[in-house]
Amino acid sequence: MTQPSIYEQILDPANRANPYPLYAELRETPVAREADGTYVVSTYREIAALLHDPRVSSDPRNHPELADAPPEEAPGLPLSFINLDPPAHDRLRELATRPYGPPCTPGRVEGMRPWLTEVTNHLIDNFTGRNRVDIVDDFAYPLPVTAICRLLGVPREDQPRFHHWADAQVETADPTTGTFAERQRRRNQITAELGAYLNGLADAHARRPGDDLISGMLTDTGPHAPMSRGDLLSTAALLLVAGHETTVNLIANGMLTLLRHPDVLDRLRHEPDLIIPLVEELLRYEPPVHLLTSRSVLADIDIAGTTIPQGSPIALVLAAGDRDPDRFPDPDRFDPDRTENVHLGFGSGIHYCFGAPLARVEAQVALPVLASRLVNPRLVADPPPYRPNPTLRGPRHLLVDYDAVAPVAEAAVGVQPRERVLRLAHG
Ligand code: HEM
Repeated sequence: MTQPSIYEQILDPANRANPYPLYAELRETPVAREADGTYVVSTYREIAALLHDPRVSSDPRNHPELADAPPEEAPGLPLSFINLDPPAHDRLRELATRPYGPPCTPGRVEGMRPWLTEVTNHLIDNFTGRNRVDIVDDFAYPLPVTAICRLLGVPREDQPRFHHWADAQVETADPTTGTFAERQRRRNQITAELGAYLNGLADAHARRPGDDLISGMLTDTGPHAPMSRGDLLSTAALLLVAGHETTVNLIANGMLTLLRHPDVLDRLRHEPDLIIPLVEELLRYEPPVHLLTSRSVLADIDIAGTTIPQGSPIALVLAAGDRDPDRFPDPDRFDPDRTENVHLGFGSGIHYCFGAPLARVEAQVALPVLASRLVNPRLVADPPPYRPNPTLRGPRHLLVDYDAVAPVAEAAVGVQPRERVLRLAHG
């Protein structure tokens, strides 16, 4: 039997708890060819170069595995912009940005901070009278789905349905759960179900527009508008799914990392402003997205002494790039005081995470409130059990014991970073 390659070992769920030594081995060959023809890229400079290279495509129709058996399109749902190249990508991303963020809607995400603080505190209030909590199921999971539903204008009572759709979608990002074409077909199936629901929701918002993204996209009259109904549904489905598991993992990885670094946890209780660099360091040190696996190259690309031939699939190991000692001094050290922390946690280039402002605010609110309201929190198991997915990596459960839950008044630190941002913005 042949020895599995380093990349195969990374995909093996047995190595999920600590893939970092394997990433270090992988970086010894910055661009490595797998037996199936995939080129695995693991060093910071090379990953960043490819993320900015117009010869690299995110469109699955260019992926070699699909050349002979293109997936059936989900009925009525075209590909969403994460799976498109320019110019279609840029047009749809711009249309989605207008009702979401600067320059047209600058206050939308920051304006959610007080509401997110309330939701966070409400979730933590439910921990009272117990001494053990699962940070994943009881906290990290409900928060992002509630947030994205509010942003999109999804009624609260429909939220449980999104857990199912988001979970099923996330499973299709796991390269160990079938061939690329099978996963793409399954993804289309789920997207179609979600799309049918969202179509009804869009009808309702078209009749009575509210202050939400779906209404904003429906009523937009700016350049390149309107978005077709199909594109609107694909965009809404993408936003629901892309921000779900990723943010769950950021919060869960965040709490795990804080409990492993009690000095930093303690600092966070007394230095509210620490949360801003701390979240950036988390995105580098324990990122929710470890791999990007759905790109292929449109022309021969020479990189790090290797030629990636036209048509080849590539896998970009973001989490290995973020521990690259040529880019980050002492990369295996969790150091929230790190300067110049230009990590790859949200990707880079034209597909840089659209939801980054929201994800940042969610984590900046959630972690300080958790840190200050849980009295004497302790990990029950280290390492915790992990989900098998090597792409979106995070604990399946994170059991934490604690002595008591502190009242909100003693712990209302969640709003302070915003004040700091405002102070900085206004001198
Ligand atoms: C901590 C949480 C998150 C992490 C770590 C994360 C990470 C990423 C990464 C690495 C990419 C690049 C994908 C690529 O280049 O193919 C990306 C893209 C994207 N993310 Fe996030 N994400 C997070 C939260 C969110 C949230 C909350 C939303 C929705 C509100 C969201 C929506 C998107 C979208 C729409 C794209 C595609 C952007 C494009 O193609 O132009 N993400 N994200």
